[in-house]
Amino acid sequence: MNENIKYLFLPRSTAVIGASSDPNKIGYKILSNIKDGNYEGNVYPVNPKGGEILGYSVFKDINEIKEEVDLATICVPAEIVLPVVKSCAQKKVKFLSIITSGFGEIGKVKEEEELVKIARGSGMRILGPNIFGVYSAKGKLNATFGPKNIKEGNVAFITQSGALGIALMGKTQTEGIGLSAMVSEGNKADLGESDLLEYFLYDEKTKVIFLYLESLKNGELFLRIAQKLTKQKPIIVLKAGVSKRGTLAAASHTGSLAGDDKIFDAAMKQAGIIRANNVNQAITWIKFLSEAPLPKGKNTLIITNGGGAGVLTTDYCEKYNLKLRDDFDNLKKIYGDVVPYFGSTKNPIDLTGQATYIEYGKALKRAIEDKDTHSIICLGCETAVFDTKNLRTTILENYNVVRDKKPIVFSFVGGKKTEEDLLSLRFLNIPIFGESEEAVSCLGILYKHYYNIQKKTSLSQKLNLDLEGVKKIITEVKNQKRNFLLPYESEEIMKIIGVSLPQKALAKNKKEAVLLAKKIGFPVVLKVVSPQIIHKTEAGGVILDIKNEKETEASFEKIITNCQKYNSKAKIEGVEVNEMIKDGLEVIVGAKKDKNFGKILMFGLGGIYVEVFKDVSFRICPISEEEAFEMVKEIKAYPLFVGVRGEKPKDVDSLKETILKIQALIDSIPEISEIEINPLVVFDKGTKALDIRILLADYSKQS
Ligand code: ACO
Repeated sequence: MNENIKYLFLPRSTAVIGASSDPNKIGYKILSNIKDGNYEGNVYPVNPKGGEILGYSVFKDINEIKEEVDLATICVPAEIVLPVVKSCAQKKVKFLSIITSGFGEIGKVKEEEELVKIARGSGMRILGPNIFGVYSAKGKLNATFGPKNIKEGNVAFITQSGALGIALMGKTQTEGIGLSAMVSEGNKADLGESDLLEYFLYDEKTKVIFLYLESLKNGELFLRIAQKLTKQKPIIVLKAGVSKRGTLAAASHTGSLAGDDKIFDAAMKQAGIIRANNVNQAITWIKFLSEAPLPKGKNTLIITNGGGAGVLTTDYCEKYNLKLRDDFDNLKKIYGDVVPYFGSTKNPIDLTGQATYIEYGKALKRAIEDKDTHSIICLGCETAVFDTKNLRTTILENYNVVRDKKPIVFSFVGGKKTEEDLLSLRFLNIPIFGESEEAVSCLGILYKHYYNIQKKTSLSQKLNLDLEGVKKIITEVKNQKRNFLLPYESEEIMKIIGVSLPQKALAKNKKEAVLLAKKIGFPVVLKVVSPQIIHKTEAGGVILDIKNEKETEASFEKIITNCQKYNSKAKIEGVEVNEMIKDGLEVIVGAKKDKNFGKILMFGLGGIYVEVFKDVSFRICPISEEEAFEMVKEIKAYPLFVGVRGEKPKDVDSLKETILKIQALIDSIPEISEIEINPLVVFDKGTKALDIRILLADYSKQS
């Protein structure tokens, strides 16, 4: 860890520049929060007027302070920030928390960069600008203008939005969530989430991390740190700004399918980060994760008094990947005498509608004591025999026994009595919900974290490919000032890296086309070759299943006419005669460089409908062989690879190898910005690349 980052959270001394005696000003509120938060270090208000505020002596300038200053919170108007930052640099302050708005967020990026330049010159780091400050439970520091009396706990919040952050600070109080830290990132001119996460990796007070993001600063670094962190502590992210803009200029399917959010989502999954869909969901999950112990195994048990509620919850368990305990003989032995003969012990343990708090009590006690039950979902529908008051006591007693030993969630549906006696238990921090999906989702994300911790990180696969030939081709393309490769160049590259191709040859006229078709063997496919025509099918430049000589001549002529009509300026170099590929599964394998995450890979169901079905998976490079396999398994169409309706299974090994070869290519040749094979046909033995597109950097600028 960058040793210094701790001084942002554990400053030994703190200054407030722009401290004011006016209780309505932010400079007063921050000082007052620091004081009331019982900060134990030295506090230095700074204001040219001097005097005393809230019992602290005021310094007219930061350089008047004799001791070192670890953290200075700046809350002066934007036009004064630059000189203030300069004097802080002179003073060698370690961290600045710049509250002031009016920089990058309103287009004043240069002014913001200037602040960072000055800070860097003296080894100072900047949080913000445009933030509400930093709270640290361990540092007993509330240098924010958010609420006072923050409940101390084990959840760290990092938020890009100031307003939402302050609102969330308030919400944590009403929800009874304790915070270990709260950091407002604002414009992230200097410090970003990666720097902050690094601190939480080592902060023993923090058990759960919540991130509200609108953008990600340095995705590659973030992933590296997050991957390490989620092996110990869960991270929940809520991301706003799901943008489609990045897809507009896309020149390939990989580009257009790899929208910002899709890549972000893939990156989060790869890093083991849990993504919430809204604020309420995030708060619910954070609260549960902050309280619940990790399970010691996979078996979940449902206890219910209603068959319907049990079935519904079983469905949710499948949705959230919970494994229900299914050793029915043992379950019968344990719960047989609690369940009436018309109930069920087949998990859900159905105590039936006649169950009272007594049966619930017995069933809960056994589930708690049973070492082969690793987590519990206790459900109930209000009935006349329910006795919510006694049930409340039963829940409380059992929860107190199990709370730090085994994860448990409750869900009860009913009227006023259920609301008042049972659901109100949430105010005592018992995970009890009206909606059983909410309860199951909590357990689901806890298990997600549990599985992520256990998942072995496999090393990425470095293939030993001789790429000298590829480099020569790329140099030649660059010499010709082209930004994309012609098909024969891309195919040459495939041959070099060992990706099989169908038989093919270039015909300059229809006579040559016939000769070649006969040599390859009918049926054949004809395809136009022109540097100006990238989307060949769209141009009418591809004709399939040509069965004889006559059809070959007619198709040749038709392709030339179509393509001249499509683009009269296109230089047509000829028509390619291809072996007709049958009986394989068409997939797409792509790679591209992403501005945030570096190199990314895409795999999916391919062919002309790739953008209709959007059945694709993404990964951030580098990936291992296992991850390549996971990419394949992740798409909805995966059963097609296993073999449906008596078909033979497809050669997934050859497919994985192709994905890894594409990774090696984009990784080793810096000029390549995008590669796409679509379709790559996967047979029961081997694969063949039918159409390959390789683009070099700055293609987008030229097109
Ligand atoms: N050094 C120290 N103090 C100085 C200096 C200096 N060089 N120059 C002036 N000051 C003093 C001022 O005299 C004043 O103190 P006073 O009350 O004794 O006169 C104090 O600094 C503050 O200056 P003001 O001009 O009164 O500025 P004000 O407090 O009105 O606003 C602020 C400053 C809060 C930084 C404002 O410019 C701003 O950016 N507000 C937005 C903050 C914000 O929303 N941030 C994002 C948070 S997240 C969210 O969206 C909720």
